[in-house]
Amino acid sequence: MTRATDLRLHFAELVVFHIVSFLFQVAKRLERFKTTIFTQMSMLAIKHGAINLGQGFPNFDGPEFVKEAAIQAIKDGKNQYARGYGVPDLNAAVTARFKIDTGLVVDPEKEVTVTSGCTEAIAATILGLINPGDEVILFAPFYDSYEATLSMAGAKIKCVKLRPPDFSVPIAELKSTISKNTRAILINTPHNPTGKMFTRDELNVIASLCIENDVLVFTDEVYDKLAFEMDHISMASLPGMYERTVTMNSLGKTFSLTGWKIGWAIAPPHLTWGVRQAHSFLTFATSTPMQYAAATALQTPDSYYEELKRDYMAKKTILVEGLKAVGFTVFPSSGTYFVVVDHTPFGLESDVAFCEYLIKEVGVVAIPTSVFYLNPEDGKNLVRFTFCKDEGTLRSAVERMKDKLLRK
Ligand SMILES: Cc1ncc(COP(=O)(O)O)c(C=O)c1O
Repeated sequence: MTRATDLRLHFAELVVFHIVSFLFQVAKRLERFKTTIFTQMSMLAIKHGAINLGQGFPNFDGPEFVKEAAIQAIKDGKNQYARGYGVPDLNAAVTARFKIDTGLVVDPEKEVTVTSGCTEAIAATILGLINPGDEVILFAPFYDSYEATLSMAGAKIKCVKLRPPDFSVPIAELKSTISKNTRAILINTPHNPTGKMFTRDELNVIASLCIENDVLVFTDEVYDKLAFEMDHISMASLPGMYERTVTMNSLGKTFSLTGWKIGWAIAPPHLTWGVRQAHSFLTFATSTPMQYAAATALQTPDSYYEELKRDYMAKKTILVEGLKAVGFTVFPSSGTYFVVVDHTPFGLESDVAFCEYLIKEVGVVAIPTSVFYLNPEDGKNLVRFTFCKDEGTLRSAVERMKDKLLRK
């Protein structure tokens, strides 16, 4: 494509964007959020026949026994509205798993709320517990729904940056960000997009700051079973923290069933109250047969998780070694199915420009990380790849990059 054609296309895209902005209306609280980058990149991927190592969904299916349990539940007539906070079997299964994972014994009836994926657990937690004007601290880069949901709640977002190469928590910066208006800190471990896992020392410091300043913790642990280089630690399990923590999780990543959207929030009764108030008016209840199947999934023995980890370790090795061979600087990832790399050796001016080039000229999709920051400039050198794809797909993507991506 010539530069003139490229410019004309760019201009046409701009015109379309302005027409769309004029015709389609959106409330002020959401107007600065555009189509999510994941949708944009996936659409571009389809257009160019690119291999999608962008959006974090597996290209393989979840386990047969869980799918069979869903079919059985449908056949058994478990098809009407479920109890708002979850079918009893699932609340009990979530509680049992939480006890194995953290040692904490919680009441399935009073402390577990089943939601439509972790996305709804995040929304119900924020909308149910945050008042307009409350300050909430995020660690950037952060999962995109946090900012949009906090904006819907009218919260003030305060950001603390995790920086490469190890993305460790800058404690002094965190301390100076906490104020008398801080209501909550949102953490995500293992962390999307970097793969960082919060260490016990980091969690201990955050915990003591929260206790000292009477701050809540909302913790997104959807990748807890994809912890490769160290053990996952739940904030709720630290001394004095359960009382001020909402732990959010879901079935999607662990059981390779991201389309089912079954999630949950675990919190003491005084915090569950707010979560359930919001949940009642967001979705009220989530899919009944899938909840029964989720209960079956969560009762699976630990060998399932061990095998999952083994499979993902092999995939991770293919991608990480491949990316290094291509010439990227690859930052260490301890958990999740993501790795973040520095794309600057290839000479493109930004992460978005690099990802567009990668799709159009190389045929591989990655996600620009600038969308994970309040200030997009902060992510302009980094892009994220996922390895939740079969090994053949990962190898083909690496081969394409080796063939067509040249260091400048
Ligand atoms: C950190 C994080 N939290 C939450 C979610 C959403 O989870 P769910 O699909 O269960 O809504 C994702 C999905 O990619 C994620 O990466």
